[in-house]
Amino acid sequence: MYLGIDLGTSGLRALMTDASGQPVASAEAQYSAQHPHPGWSEQDPGSWITALDQAMAQLQGTPGYSGIRGIAVAGHMHGAVLLDRADQVLRPCILWNDTRSAAEAAELDATDEVRSLSGNIVFPGFTAPKLLWVQRHEPEIFAKTAKVLLPAAYLNLHLTGRHVADMSDSAGTSWLDVGARDWSERLLGAGHMRRDQMPDLVEGCTAAGTLRPELAARWGLRPDVVVSGGAGDNAAAACGTGVMAEGQGFVSLGTSGVVLAARDGFHPDPATAVHTFCHAIPDRWYQMGVMLSATDCMNWLGRITGRSPAELTAPIGDQLGPPGTATFFPYLSGERTPHNSANLRGGFEGLGVQTTTDDLARAVMEGVSFGLRDCLEALKATGAGLERCLVIGGGSKSLYWVRLLATVLNLPLCLPKDGEFGAALGAARLARLAVTGEPPSEVLLTPEIAQVIEPEAALREQYEARYQLFRRQTAERLKPVA
Ligand code: XUL
Repeated sequence: MYLGIDLGTSGLRALMTDASGQPVASAEAQYSAQHPHPGWSEQDPGSWITALDQAMAQLQGTPGYSGIRGIAVAGHMHGAVLLDRADQVLRPCILWNDTRSAAEAAELDATDEVRSLSGNIVFPGFTAPKLLWVQRHEPEIFAKTAKVLLPAAYLNLHLTGRHVADMSDSAGTSWLDVGARDWSERLLGAGHMRRDQMPDLVEGCTAAGTLRPELAARWGLRPDVVVSGGAGDNAAAACGTGVMAEGQGFVSLGTSGVVLAARDGFHPDPATAVHTFCHAIPDRWYQMGVMLSATDCMNWLGRITGRSPAELTAPIGDQLGPPGTATFFPYLSGERTPHNSANLRGGFEGLGVQTTTDDLARAVMEGVSFGLRDCLEALKATGAGLERCLVIGGGSKSLYWVRLLATVLNLPLCLPKDGEFGAALGAARLARLAVTGEPPSEVLLTPEIAQVIEPEAALREQYEARYQLFRRQTAERLKPVA
């Protein structure tokens, strides 16, 4: 038995699989994020530990539970947990969607060698600019910071007593030489950090340590449970969907939107605003375009119209028609790929007195799909080729949205059969690899496909023209107001 823990932004999910990788039980516990100022997003790391205890209590008693041999954590990326010499948390974790350090990010991004060594733009959500912000605004906390851990590495510390992080998550700090898979003295120096403040590095599929005896006793587990390095949530989702080799990829229609392609080599192209990170298995990387608001745009429309996202999409039906008259710009929280702008904001265009709520919902799905097309174009510019793609995430429950997305991307989209294929399954697979030492290609299998959705040939040209218009209109929005 193996346990995969998905430490998400709004809650933690623990998934138990049997020795052959079949899911057998899962448990969830929620927590919240705090937003004390505009652009701030923080979380108490203690709430992750409470949630983990709650999830373990729910799982105890499941047949096979006491036979768990390995655990791995997949975490939301880029967050900074600051610890003092006694491993006490010094301030709330600053999360991936916190934009307070936009100025520090721009400053680091303009520093010589930072893009070439880290392989990425320094985005405001990344870890290094957060620490520069703490140094400037909370110097007494910065002075006490003995270690900085990513959220998954903080749970690794809780589980094993050791400071250990995996490569895939560490790649999102702007302190890692992503090609060499090691901390970079140059990058650490640029951010006023030192190597002794960093955790040890392991590959996600190798052991980070053994479960602490107190936890093994409290949770009723064996004394020799192996904790693997784990992964950042996107790398874990790639493991869960078996996306590990050149040509394989997925589109995720989640709160944020992701188009991800696995790469056999390190092919950074920061100017595209694509993310280039280490995979959770050795000698592999992946690249992804990230949209900060995908289904979150539908959640927003739901909040202001008093309807659930399902109520908004139901009247539209499943059959794709031509583009609507209203256009939506999905930049409710700024954008990473391809614009790298914390200030860009969303909007509607083309509204008339006849515009209905259905038109707005359709426009939101179109705008998000156009944003994902921008991500795909950016990925193509790095040389990542995708001929078909899995589609995952909450938005993929709408067949209309998947048909629209396939047509806008001009890519066949494969809908997996209902079941597990996300970050929690990916983490459970990493736990298994650390215990058994099997070759990753035998464990990181692709899910069974329920349906392949082809682009709608008759509508391709109309959507292509609308996408080109969307690009021109977005370029106008990016111009500074005189
Ligand atoms: C990736 C990113 C998000 C978080 C959310 O760069 O910021 O996908 O990992 O969980």
